[in-house]
Amino acid sequence: MDADLVIVGAGLFGLTVAQQAVEKHGAKVEIIDVRDHIGGNAYSYMDEETGAEIHKYGAHLFHTSNPRVWEYVNRFTEFTNYVHRVYTTHNGEVFPLPINLGTINQFFHAHYTPAEAKALIAEQAGELAGTDPANLNDKGISLIGRPLYEAFIKNYTAKQWQTDPSELPAGIIKRLPVRFNYDNRYFRDTWEGLPKDGYTAWMERMIDDPRIHVTLNTDFFDESQPLNKKALVGKVPVVYTGPVDRYFDYELGDLKWRTVDFKEVRYDEGDHFGCPVMNFADSDVPYTRAIEFKNFNPERKDSQNPDKTVVWEEYSRFATREDEPYYPVNTAEDKALYEQYAAKAAQEPKVVFGGRLGTYKYYDMHNVIDTALTAYEEQVAPLLG
Ligand code: FAD
Ligand code: NA
Repeated sequence: MDADLVIVGAGLFGLTVAQQAVEKHGAKVEIIDVRDHIGGNAYSYMDEETGAEIHKYGAHLFHTSNPRVWEYVNRFTEFTNYVHRVYTTHNGEVFPLPINLGTINQFFHAHYTPAEAKALIAEQAGELAGTDPANLNDKGISLIGRPLYEAFIKNYTAKQWQTDPSELPAGIIKRLPVRFNYDNRYFRDTWEGLPKDGYTAWMERMIDDPRIHVTLNTDFFDESQPLNKKALVGKVPVVYTGPVDRYFDYELGDLKWRTVDFKEVRYDEGDHFGCPVMNFADSDVPYTRAIEFKNFNPERKDSQNPDKTVVWEEYSRFATREDEPYYPVNTAEDKALYEQYAAKAAQEPKVVFGGRLGTYKYYDMHNVIDTALTAYEEQVAPLLG
């Protein structure tokens, strides 16, 4: 092993740092990943039967308002003009999300103007006026009123957390956006789209350089193979993007995460939902949402099977150590525990902790790329001398 830098994790954080280390420093970089593919959670593959690009770890939509990130990602891929929109099924009807004037007027069988709808929601939200919301249920009612909260938020949230919202802390939701016009464009960012040739092709191009070597199926904590923590830390600069509590053998306790189980369903029809993401707001459907991957890429119509489609249903639950950690639970207790781990991480010789798992943060892809560009400049480059 004659690398100048070892990166644990071939996700977007690790790949961005690797690309920068080669471009800016001419470094030789070794990337290891415990999985059998690069890309981390943004990885995708083509489904042969349908021609759908399946996002293996859940639907990934790229969006950003950060010019530095947008310019950077465009060096490796073009983006389609996909615009993200989400629908939800409630009580046998399909409604647009996020909750907007279309949702409101459909729900109340009305033709409210923006001002009328605003006044109605304010009045309904006033039900608990003057009280401090004791739990997530009360918080939801105080934000958008009971009728909309109970229809669109309550049971969906219960499925996400596998817990009744009256037993969840109010702090889980800060705000519930309601739009008083018919705009149901999901993201408000300057740029959005999907990588034209898929996520994996994009990420392969980021590390297409002979100075970058990737070793897959390799666990950093497995001392029976050469690229392990004990053998490397202190001797060569390391960028670690795995779970920070795992790095320290969970010695202060486990940081809590939620995970998602996916159930694949195939239909003998060209299009099952007519949209890429269908949420299910009610408790009679056990999954939170269904992803119909073909519909993310309508521009690929000619290479998709017109008679078959594939859908992934998502079931959300708390993660154990054996599960994929997806969303930080982030209670006050978790945050305090993370701060303790972060203090230990800062003491590790020549190790830079980064990415979602290494810093226990929910980051979108654009956040991860941005923090990786900064971490390269501020923390990794100085270690390369
Ligand atoms: P990861 O992609 O998790 O990469 C970390 C890598 O480290 C993994 O490949 C892992 O195998 C490896 N690793 C861990 N431990 C070890 C070990 N011991 N040894 C070796 N390797 C190890 N972002 C968006 O912008 N838009 C979206 O729509 C979106 N949707 C999402 C949906 C879901 C369900 C999830 C979970 C995330 C979503 N994201 C989305 C966020 C996006 O996935 C992340 O921002 C990004 O992938 C994080 O990159 P990363 O490099 O920090 O971590
Ligand atoms: Na997503």
